Amino acid sequence: MVSVVTRRSLAALRLCATVILLDVAVCQGFVEDLDESFKENRKDDIWLVDFYAPWCGHCKKLEPIWNEVGLEMKNIGSPVKVGKMDATSYSSIASEFGVRGYPTIKLLKGDLAYNYRGPRTKDDIIEFAHRVSGALIRPLPSQQMFEHVQKRHRVFFVYIGGESPLKEKYIDAASELIVYTYFFSAPEEVVPEYVKLKEMPAVLVFKDETYFVYDEYEDGDLSSWINRERFQNYLTVDGFLLYELGDTGKLVAIAVIDEKNTSVEHTRLKSIIQEVARDYRDHFHRDFQFGHMDGNDYINTLLMDELTIPTVVVLNTSNQQYFLLDRQVKNAEDMVQFITNILDGTVEAQGGDSILQRLKRILFDAKSTIVSIFKSSPLMGCFLFGLPLGVISIMCYGIYTADTDGGYIEERYEVSQSDIGSQEQIEESTEQQEPSPGGGPVPAVQEPKDVLEKKKD
Ligand SMILES: *[C@@H]1O[C@H](CO)[C@@H](O)[C@H](O)[C@H]1NC(C)=O
Ligand SMILES: *[C@@H]1O[C@H](CO)[C@@H](O)[C@H](O)[C@H]1NC(C)=O
Repeated sequence: MVSVVTRRSLAALRLCATVILLDVAVCQGFVEDLDESFKENRKDDIWLVDFYAPWCGHCKKLEPIWNEVGLEMKNIGSPVKVGKMDATSYSSIASEFGVRGYPTIKLLKGDLAYNYRGPRTKDDIIEFAHRVSGALIRPLPSQQMFEHVQKRHRVFFVYIGGESPLKEKYIDAASELIVYTYFFSAPEEVVPEYVKLKEMPAVLVFKDETYFVYDEYEDGDLSSWINRERFQNYLTVDGFLLYELGDTGKLVAIAVIDEKNTSVEHTRLKSIIQEVARDYRDHFHRDFQFGHMDGNDYINTLLMDELTIPTVVVLNTSNQQYFLLDRQVKNAEDMVQFITNILDGTVEAQGGDSILQRLKRILFDAKSTIVSIFKSSPLMGCFLFGLPLGVISIMCYGIYTADTDGGYIEERYEVSQSDIGSQEQIEESTEQQEPSPGGGPVPAVQEPKDVLEKKKD
């Protein structure tokens, strides 16, 4: 079987390699170009579709990866068909499938449409297609199977027991959350001996070399518990993951470090967080997510502040607040003390989602946009902002010189200053009216400001 697959994929690769000079389109043959007829024809099959726009840069970057996905799915004999659709040409179909940005990757299975939100790499996309197209709940009939799954997946959920209302809920939750994680079911005798169950049926999550049992009274709704528990306790956090963590409502404690910096201070903070995550798991795992983040760019945008790294920051993903220590964390006990103080309210929170913070966010985003335009293309920046500002200045000059009652302007100036803050900010907010750069919709995922706002949607 294996050799057949390899031989077939080798043949296909060779086919591509030989024709690549003649016609690149042949390799794209593994991805079907979809049109109106797709709506009628798709029902009997499972489809993995890239909805793209011809002008979108992220779509162009995805295209070669998508062709590889098509090729590999064909080679491994996957029942999932791979296609792409120009969502601008067939916009009514695209909007029926709920396409709002480009590119949007969806797996369509009967009446269900699953969005892919992970990193756009071949392996991740293929793994997603396998997971979502396969059985919702995968049975684990033997101990060997269980061990195999334990080796393969860092986090997975298992239902143990027979038919029950809990199983119904488990199936419901799985049909929604299969996009993120794996769901299994097993008879009691299959689970490892170290698992102690007080009652049956039960839903368990296996992760971090241990397991946690769902408790309906303490953990609330099963879906939201699964959503909170689908991450490992300690993670390498990036902007994308932070956005995902917004769903959990947990506090996220991260060491912000420079991975390339070899000074002990950086590794020390990382190991302190790791130690707390591991040794205080039972204490904090319900409320906290731990990890480290490489570099402070992302976190600076999020906090609208310049953090000196290395440092430790705790983010409240439900209300956009954050907590900082005014000194360096000394050791694990010190970190635990910090966390305890946050929980009992003795550390003052910063940030938040008040009107003032939102205003600050708007100004901050405007400033970063302008800075980035000037950095990438100073001429363009001068043109975009210089021209309208010039026009505005001339107009103001005109109004000012035409206005005989200078006191009016004086008064107005004073009101806005005390209301909003400083004159500088007012100027920035005028500049903010300018068009934003870049070619069209970028996935919200990459916008740091959405990370902590997601809960509010
Ligand atoms: C490494 O981090 C330390 C602070 O712990 C800092 O003083 C030093 O300049 C950094 N080195 C480099 C190469 O960035
Ligand atoms: C985090 O935010 C939520 C929602 O506002 C709030 O209820 C909770 O108390 C906050 N947690 C901490 C530790 O401040």
